[in-house]
Amino acid sequence: MDHMLALFLLCPFVFLSAVTSQNDNVCSRPQLAANIEMDEIQRFFNPGAVLALSCKQGYTPVLGPRTIVCTDSGQWAKTKLKCIPKTCPFPDLLSNGEIYYEDTVYQSTINYTCHEGFVLTGASTAVCQANGTWSALVPECKPVSCGLAPIPQFGMIVYDKLIRGNTTDYGVTGTYKCRPPYVVIGDARAECTASGTWTKTPECQVMTCPPPENIYKGYMSNNDDRDYDFMEVIRYGCHGDYVLEGSLQIVCQQDGSWSEKPSCKAPCSVDIQRGRILYKRQKLWIENLRPNRVLHKDIVSVYCLDKARNCGYAVPSQCIDGKLKIPECFELPGAAEYQLRSGSLPSEIDQC
Ligand SMILES: *[C@@H]1O[C@H](CO)[C@@H](O)[C@H](O)[C@H]1NC(C)=O
Ligand SMILES: *[C@@H]1O[C@H](CO)[C@@H](O)[C@H](O)[C@H]1NC(C)=O
Ligand SMILES: *[C@@H]1O[C@H](CO)[C@@H](O)[C@H](O)[C@H]1NC(C)=O
Repeated sequence: MDHMLALFLLCPFVFLSAVTSQNDNVCSRPQLAANIEMDEIQRFFNPGAVLALSCKQGYTPVLGPRTIVCTDSGQWAKTKLKCIPKTCPFPDLLSNGEIYYEDTVYQSTINYTCHEGFVLTGASTAVCQANGTWSALVPECKPVSCGLAPIPQFGMIVYDKLIRGNTTDYGVTGTYKCRPPYVVIGDARAECTASGTWTKTPECQVMTCPPPENIYKGYMSNNDDRDYDFMEVIRYGCHGDYVLEGSLQIVCQQDGSWSEKPSCKAPCSVDIQRGRILYKRQKLWIENLRPNRVLHKDIVSVYCLDKARNCGYAVPSQCIDGKLKIPECFELPGAAEYQLRSGSLPSEIDQC
């Protein structure tokens, strides 16, 4: 071609007609299918010219041939050459994370993300390169780590699982405790959060209770006039025939108050002047109950008469804090009758 161009430039008149007559039979630059390229840069090719075709970077040739020839008629011979994109291997799984991609061909991208509580180490994206390899290795999702939980003064933390070394992973939980008399002020539960920090550390503070008050007819195991610490205990008792009802002891609670106090309940007297009673499985003439006193919660029965059937029956009543109600059916015998004919009292005749 260079040779022809030189002749043309030297003798324009001689060759002009020859060139124009040949113009009909030269091949113009070929239209190439997608992703096929060629090295030659000129616009026209003479019949017989052979043009080498290749695939663009990142594409692989299939079918063929990979050359085309300019025919005498000025047409390029056909080729079935196709260039298809190279593919990269499917990416490996990412544990504790997600992989996003639409395709694995040349120029596709993969996006990597980690689940909450994990940090990505490595590249978060990779591109499929011309040589069919990914531009970056699969990254790693490493658990967020918090370090050991801060410990408040006079306190400690009990982790819910064994901790090795001095790091803790995201999601590790524990419970704060304070040495008595200190108590946890704030949230006792702790957790290593996704941001790599521990939830707010509570404080250990002393909580005291005021000196406890005595109870009516009772006494205390300790009545120092001082504040009492969390968990300290006071026991109560009752004087004489009073009976303690409720818990034997009170404890200074976490909120600085005492648990519920017991109370002393009064004994009862059996208010009949004459008659027989049933008390603790014994039949007693009332004058033989000495002293005339039964304790709180004790049960005492008196005898009533079933007039229709002429028989006697015991009717129970309970002593409740000093009050013992005598059943209404009870009839107090007259003094003379009681002395002379005691055998006819409801307690002595046949029982119903
Ligand atoms: C990857 O992330 C980029 C930037 O956020 C986004 O434009 C693209 O659509 C993502 N690709 C896939 C496959 O999710
Ligand atoms: C693939 O191409 C990339 C970028 O040009 C290069 O860094 C890498 O070494 C190549 N890999 C292979 C296996 O040829
Ligand atoms: C705790 O971590 C520090 C570095 O942060 C290290 O020097 C130390 O040896 C670790 N202690 C234990 C008990 O692992």
